[in-house]
Parts: sequence; structure tokens; C-alpha cells
Amino acid sequence: MTLLAIETSCDETSAAVVRDGRILSNVVASQTAIHAEYGGVVPELATREHLRNLMPVTRQALREAGVTTSELDAVAVTRGPGLPNALLAGLKAAEALAFSLRKPILGIHHHEAHLYSAWILTDPSRSDFSQFESSVSLIVSGGHTLLVLVEDVLRHRVLGSTLDDAAGECFDKTGKLMGLAYPAGPEMDRLAAAGNPRAYKFPRPMMNEPNDDFSFSGLKTSVRYFLEKHPALPDDPQALRDLCASVQAAIVEVLVAKTVRAARRLGRRCVTASGGVACNSALRGQLATACRQAGLSLRLSDRKFSTDNAAMIGILAERKWRAGLGEISVDAEIEPGWPL
Ligand code: KG4
Ligand code: ZN
Repeated sequence: MTLLAIETSCDETSAAVVRDGRILSNVVASQTAIHAEYGGVVPELATREHLRNLMPVTRQALREAGVTTSELDAVAVTRGPGLPNALLAGLKAAEALAFSLRKPILGIHHHEAHLYSAWILTDPSRSDFSQFESSVSLIVSGGHTLLVLVEDVLRHRVLGSTLDDAAGECFDKTGKLMGLAYPAGPEMDRLAAAGNPRAYKFPRPMMNEPNDDFSFSGLKTSVRYFLEKHPALPDDPQALRDLCASVQAAIVEVLVAKTVRAARRLGRRCVTASGGVACNSALRGQLATACRQAGLSLRLSDRKFSTDNAAMIGILAERKWRAGLGEISVDAEIEPGWPL
């Protein structure tokens, strides 16, 4: 089957064409340069950019895939969670297209798509569920941090989540305090590579608590207090690198420790990690080391499919369609707070 997928939940407008588990195209128009000026995503600007980008990005995805709208069997779209008006732009465009083509429309959960993106391979880009194993899965993005027990493909339950800020939000907000541009995560990753992670000591929130939840706002506050005491520190390039490495180490250590501990407790042999923060080099490296030591296999989403993209929406939609799930009506509403 051939599907067109659309993703507009935050600040990336993306369209992809997926056919029988293969990704034929995946076009992403990122708005980060626009939001960087304001230090974070401005919802009104995001909506305006989605409206501006939706048609060209969709046309490009079809063109790159060599597919015409008449060849589509269904349209898939992110229904939630996300910024309400951003979701609305994508959902209404997808509904209009599905209605005019008289094809079914599938409403997809953004985090569920991140969850299964760990099973997407690149070159050639395709889903790889033949290797599927029951797993403990970490979803780390700008909006959410979730630990999920995946029993089978499409059968999962949330073990724990962040009680306040998401891991990506913690990168972005602490980076902003240091004077880094939005989104600070990738830049902190880059700077931390040449920094000393033991230079400054920050808390590892909830790391040893007997649950699968996370909390990152306390870490953000301690970085704020630290910078109030040492306001000139980010002006020294090496001190800034050390600070980035130290903050990153605190975030990553908690994520790795709690994920591996949950996998061992629940007797799962496989760990996956996906979402924008899964691009982080320290997280990838330390998860790999911890999993190797614990005798666990690890599946990391490819960096290309970690940050928001429509390919992951299409891959999950196709899987759902084959299981008789996910179809919505052409006048369905967005689900901005949809729980996983
Ligand atoms: O999944 P995503 O594209 O959007 C959401 O659904 O939120 O994730 C974006 C988040 C941002 O907070 C960004 O700073 C973070 O992922 N991120 C990173 C890295 N690349 C992206 N954080 C740390 N290190 C990175 N290399
Ligand atoms: Zn996301």
C-alpha cells in the first residue's frame, strides 16, 4: 500500500511517502531558524509556517517518491499530542486531501510514532519489524520523556514519564541560560564533546528512586543558581564546554540508569531509544556501554528519524492500517494532550 504522511505537531513541517514498509521520500522543513530569534517555539509563527510550507513540502515528497495522488491508498497525519494550532494545520490539510481523493485517513499519535521509529533502518530507508523483540523503550524529545514497556508491535504501556520538564526541554532551557541559541540540545552535544563532564557537579534527579519517572526542572534550577554565582563563566570557551559536558552528563546518566534498570527488573532483553534527544552522542554512547554490560541488545533510532519527521508517522500508520487500526473520520479533531 502507498501512504502519504504529514507531520506538523511542533516546529517541523514534514511530508513522506511510504510504500510497503519502505520510505520513498521524507521531506522536512525545519523552522528552528525562525524560532531561534525568540529563544523557543512561538506557536503563532509555527502555525503560519506550517500553512506556508504544507503544500510545497507535500508536493516535494510526492515528486521525490515519483508518486501521484491518484496512486495513494491512504493519508496519515499526526493527530496529537503537540501545539494545538500546529496540529490543526496538518490535520485539516490531510483531511481535505483524503476527502478529495476519497481515501481513508489515519490519525497517528506522535510519541507512538517516535516509539516505533527505533525499528526504521536507513539505506534503503525501511521498517525492520522482522527483528522485533519485546523491549523497554525510552522516548526522549523536546516535549516528552517516557519510559515504555513494548510487549509486541502496537502493544505497549507507559512505565513512567517526566513529572515536569522533558529531557530535551532541559537541554534547551539550560543551554539558553548559558547563552546558546534555540534549540540548544545539538549545540550542547557539540560543545560537550570537548568538555570535562566531571568539572561541575549537578544533581541526578530521581535517579535512585524506585519508580520509572523522571524530573528535570530541579536540574534546570540548579544550573540557574550556578550561573547566578558564576555569571562570566560562559564567556570562557573551555569553561562553557565543561559546563555543557557536566549538565549533559547529569541528564544522560539519569536516562541511562533508569532505562537499563527497568529493562533488568522487567526481564526484557532489548532496549530502544528514540526522539530528538536520541541524537545526543553521549546518550547513544552511554546507552550502548550500559546495555553491553547488562547483556541487553540496543536499538537506537537513526539520527535522521530521531527528530520530528513524517516518515515515522507513515511507517506506524501502515502498520496500524494492516492491523485494522487508526482510521479517523474526515472531520476528526486534533488531540493536543493525547496520552500514549
Ligand atoms: O523529537 P523532537 O524533534 O521534537 C519533539 O517532539 O519535541 O525533539 C526535539 C528536541 C529538542 O529539545 C532538541 O534540543 C533535542 O531534541 N535534541 C538534542 C539533540 N538533537 C536534538 N538534544 C541533545 N543532543 C542532541 N544532539
Ligand atoms: Zn517529536
